[in-house]
Amino acid sequence: MAWVAVRPDASLAAVLVIILFLMPAEGHAVRAGRALKLGKEKVTYLHFFLHDTVSDKNPTAVQVASPNSTRFPFGFGSVFVVDDVLTEAVERSSPVVGNAQRIEVLTGLDKFSVVMTMDVAFTTGKYKGSSFSVMSRNPITEMGRELAVIGGRGKFRLARGVAQITTRLFKFPDTIIEYNVTLFHY
Ligand SMILES: *[C@@H]1O[C@H](CO)[C@@H](O)[C@H](O)[C@H]1NC(C)=O
Ligand SMILES: *[C@@H]1O[C@H](CO)[C@@H](O)[C@H](O)[C@H]1NC(C)=O
Repeated sequence: MAWVAVRPDASLAAVLVIILFLMPAEGHAVRAGRALKLGKEKVTYLHFFLHDTVSDKNPTAVQVASPNSTRFPFGFGSVFVVDDVLTEAVERSSPVVGNAQRIEVLTGLDKFSVVMTMDVAFTTGKYKGSSFSVMSRNPITEMGRELAVIGGRGKFRLARGVAQITTRLFKFPDTIIEYNVTLFHY
């Protein structure tokens, strides 16, 4: 390919990228597939409690990054990876119903707030093996707040909805959050 001016020291990866980029986009059309059998749209209400226990000897959250600067307030820019337990009632000793795995970034410049992407999965009962997905801002210092639900798997296929949440217990650095979720799904 004479028109690709490649310097002798360019890496193989760079050359491959350039070649792929220049390849003619010829007709490998995506063929029509089999449609998902979806049935009727349903509405489901879920109620559970999420336990964010950082102080435990087996903590459920870990900070994986922070900005190399003290010029930002509220830990702005810090990134956490979390795998929290979900229970039926507010007590941690009540039956476990699932877990919520998420990545959360501290994003509030003038107020403590996070943006998070979270998969809420159930491990027992009717919704065992199914999960719904949250992608939302979460102003964690406010009592009543709302998270956007933008998708789901298994029983929650094509879910969309809203999670109304409130902090039921705050014992720094641990929290228990109550969830009331309304989901439209198939
Ligand atoms: C962090 O910031 C300091 C001061 O600005 C700088 O000297 C240092 O190299 C930075 N460290 C990293 C890992 O970027
Ligand atoms: C969830 O719903 C219950 C029952 O309606 C209510 O008592 C509770 O305050 C609600 N909690 C949240 C976080 O919306």
